[in-house]
Amino acid sequence: MCGIVGYIGTKKASPILINGLLKLEYRGYDSAGISTMEKDSISVMKDKGRVKNLYDLEGINDLKGTVGIAHTRWATHGKPSKENSHPHLDNSNTFCVVHNGIIENYNDLRTFLKDNGYEFYSETDTEVIPNLISYYYKKGNDFLKSVNLACNDLKGSYAIEVICKDMPENMIVARKDSPLVIGKSDDEIFVSSDIPALISFTNTFYFLNDNEIAYISKDNIKFYDNNLNEVSKELTTVELSANSADKDGFEDYMLKEIYEQPKAIRETIGTSLNGSKINFEGLNLTKEYLSKINKIYMVACGTAMHAGLGVKSNFETLCNIPVIVEVASEFRYRNPLIDENTLCIYISQSGETADTIAALKLAKSKGAKTIAITNVIESSITREADYFVYTHAGPEIAVASTKAYTSQLVLLNIMALYFAEILESSTESRIDNIKKEILKLPEKAEEILKDITNIKNIAHEIHSKKTMFYLGRGIDYSVAMEGALKLKEISYIFSEAYPSGELKHGPIALIEKGTSVINILTNSTLVEKSLSNIQEVVTRGATCIIITNQDFDISNFENVIKIPEISALLSPILSVIPLQLLAYYITKEKGLDVDKPRNLAKSVTVE
Ligand code: M6R
Repeated sequence: MCGIVGYIGTKKASPILINGLLKLEYRGYDSAGISTMEKDSISVMKDKGRVKNLYDLEGINDLKGTVGIAHTRWATHGKPSKENSHPHLDNSNTFCVVHNGIIENYNDLRTFLKDNGYEFYSETDTEVIPNLISYYYKKGNDFLKSVNLACNDLKGSYAIEVICKDMPENMIVARKDSPLVIGKSDDEIFVSSDIPALISFTNTFYFLNDNEIAYISKDNIKFYDNNLNEVSKELTTVELSANSADKDGFEDYMLKEIYEQPKAIRETIGTSLNGSKINFEGLNLTKEYLSKINKIYMVACGTAMHAGLGVKSNFETLCNIPVIVEVASEFRYRNPLIDENTLCIYISQSGETADTIAALKLAKSKGAKTIAITNVIESSITREADYFVYTHAGPEIAVASTKAYTSQLVLLNIMALYFAEILESSTESRIDNIKKEILKLPEKAEEILKDITNIKNIAHEIHSKKTMFYLGRGIDYSVAMEGALKLKEISYIFSEAYPSGELKHGPIALIEKGTSVINILTNSTLVEKSLSNIQEVVTRGATCIIITNQDFDISNFENVIKIPEISALLSPILSVIPLQLLAYYITKEKGLDVDKPRNLAKSVTVE
């Protein structure tokens, strides 16, 4: 999704802005641009294509300004083009704006501005913003008031940076439902959509809340609410190393992140299982409250939603509470049955996913308690939820989520045990056995990653297939869904997951000689049933790949990927690893960009 960078300081702004944009590339984008405050005017350089192309733009090296704004655009309104790229100027070239988000009432605002003599040169929703600011400015309001009045007219979501020709030492930033952080060092201020883009410059940050505005000069920042009452803010120090997002010798971020899973799992477990009772920092739920819960909603998107599906049964079995897992974009627009006895858990790697945050706000408005699980420190979701808990996967850069998923599963399983301990809804010995198994997960993940020759060979064999099916029963079905998502998003191969038992109800009609079917089989009680499903597709000529930790006669099957033993409850944390690697190596065989698949963004900050 769109990314924003801003700088006010003593150095030349343009290289700092471009460097910041390069760090935001992982979010996904199609155009890039920067704008700096030059002697008597605002200079804008932008085009569709990669950030590095900015270096080739004529005159970019001549920019001397020490105040600037920058943007990577992920097209929503209007195709990728130079005209639609940000920054956007108002008609009088007085204000320049970059914007992340969607202005829902931009058509009305455009009509209003056109009626007042303004012209538009792009198809974007953003272009109304500088012109609206200009409209209020011409009515005699100062810079701050004009931005404030314009923001109050906007419906939808925005994180904006605005510079003004008449106030060359200043910048105004504002946000609503879109991420924005402000970093501060001695005599420099940095703005960005996320912390990792700024961590090589500073580790101290201010965090804006929705509807707040910051008026920035190089040695001072003032914060205001949407009525322009001044608000005070604490500077927060963030512990994140500058090189934690480097490739570390791996060819791609995705491969690096797959290999980081043992560490991510270990760090997510942290010290939570050290004592006799689970220590869950950030949550202090009482037995009285938990006993009243009538149901748990787990709400998320994509891979994070699959993590919810992967723990649903565990929560239900261990805690005796019904769990409903829902896609956030659906949940937010229906009228889910929620009351003060409903607990809603939101899972989001980035903590910025617009649908997930909106679904959280909905549950809060209906009186439910909300818990956010996120991987990004101080992300927006942490400011909305009643409680938040971090997974400790480290920065995830590749668009395809890998280590965040396994960390989410680990954390959610520990949370299920934590609830069960408080509720006394499961026996101590059962809880202890699961804890022991969780502690062995990092080693077992390492074991899978030690020798992946088999997986690479299978990837080579099947990479030219046009369609692939993923089958599983119970918890294996949730992993099948994640495997199919991983493959389709990076390799562009059509892949679909089905519960094995559903085959006969339709999908088996698609099985023919050469179709690839990937089966996940980790539940001892369902082995026989799943094997007969596999036999049915083999008979019809399918190439079967089996991922299993079960003992059965494998002589009938060509491609079996063995994973270490683990109870079915925790098996997704291991069985997903071969699926991630398979998707990765199939994509490499096809010569595609694994880290930045087409049309996708890492952080989906608009709905
Ligand atoms: O940051 P989030 O966890 O909220 O993101 C949710 C999905 O957009 C994300 O998991 C997406 O499905 C990934 N590209 C999957 O690999």
